[in-house]
Amino acid sequence: MSKQLIYSHLYAWYEVNRRNLPWRETEDPYAIWLSEIILQQTRVAQGLDYYRRFLARWRTVEDLAAADEAEVLREWQGLGYYSRARNLHKAAQQIVEKASPATGDSSLFPRTFEEIRSLPGIGDYTAGAIASFAYNLPYPAMDGNVYRVVARLLDIDEPFDTSAGKKLFHKEIEKLLDRENPRLFNSAIMEFGALYCTPVLGDACATCPLSEFCLGYAHGTADLLPVRKPRPKVRDRWFDYHIYLKPSAVSHQPSEVYTLIHRRENPKDIWYHLYEFPCEELNNDPTAAGGPTGKAGLTAKRSYSNAVYECTHTLSHQRLHARFIIHKVNELPQIEGTIAIPLSALDEYAFSRLTLRALDTLRTSLPH
Ligand code: ADE
Repeated sequence: MSKQLIYSHLYAWYEVNRRNLPWRETEDPYAIWLSEIILQQTRVAQGLDYYRRFLARWRTVEDLAAADEAEVLREWQGLGYYSRARNLHKAAQQIVEKASPATGDSSLFPRTFEEIRSLPGIGDYTAGAIASFAYNLPYPAMDGNVYRVVARLLDIDEPFDTSAGKKLFHKEIEKLLDRENPRLFNSAIMEFGALYCTPVLGDACATCPLSEFCLGYAHGTADLLPVRKPRPKVRDRWFDYHIYLKPSAVSHQPSEVYTLIHRRENPKDIWYHLYEFPCEELNNDPTAAGGPTGKAGLTAKRSYSNAVYECTHTLSHQRLHARFIIHKVNELPQIEGTIAIPLSALDEYAFSRLTLRALDTLRTSLPH
């Protein structure tokens, strides 16, 4: 198989079909790093606004390092996988602490793959993406799209998400990488996977610019690739959120309605350092184990007539069954770890997407 021919077909396709994305218009490693962290678990369409907002608010790595973690989490709000934001902030601080002002370098951002790879929140993919996009260094950037293209091109049916599989794919992409043009190669193959060699192929192979080199196409296996290891089980959890409202003495002043929130403090659990209403985690489904009729939800062991919002919220490994319950009270209860804030200040805190969904729906039932 001629690599040069693959490159020329791939690059010709890329020239015509590439999206104009703002992080492709820059070689600033800080901006590229930011885009890659945002895009780790987020689609481009959703990530664009966050990328622009972050860059407008924190122009440089020094600016980001000087921010409070709470501000960074607040700006990240709604994107999910909040450890990305915490690591982003921590990495910015590490970069600034390590930088030596004597170098006179205009950018403090590390310049070698190893230094980039050692930062919190950066794995092989992200380090390779930054090293190649910012500095044109010859490192592969294997994201899910690239794994798919490589699996099909070489007809590899080894699961790509095991350590053995990763090693195998890595060896292959190292061989395939265009060392003369790593920036172009990584951008093009990633875009080709994102836009053309997509999970559901339809009849794309019939007109594919790479089909003549594609073993998956030749063997009729392309549609079945890549292979994943079996998925871990999803864990169910049941959360009751209690929204306490201490009614305003002056009804036309919403800022005087107070509620309780608390910050999640377990670094091993979801949503570390995000805020939420006081949360009671139940050991099992409170509406199951039915009564006489056995009908879940109607014969609740424990039901709330004032549960104003119920939903199921799915994370990667957890399915959360949440109820939000409004309690109108004369005095806010004493609950350890909570703080009392006016409803009008809710916007100043970072909440999980689940709580934001609930607030969105409840906005009309809350005093305003
Ligand atoms: N997904 C991850 N990185 C990306 C990039 N640089 N361009 C488009 N999509 C991406």
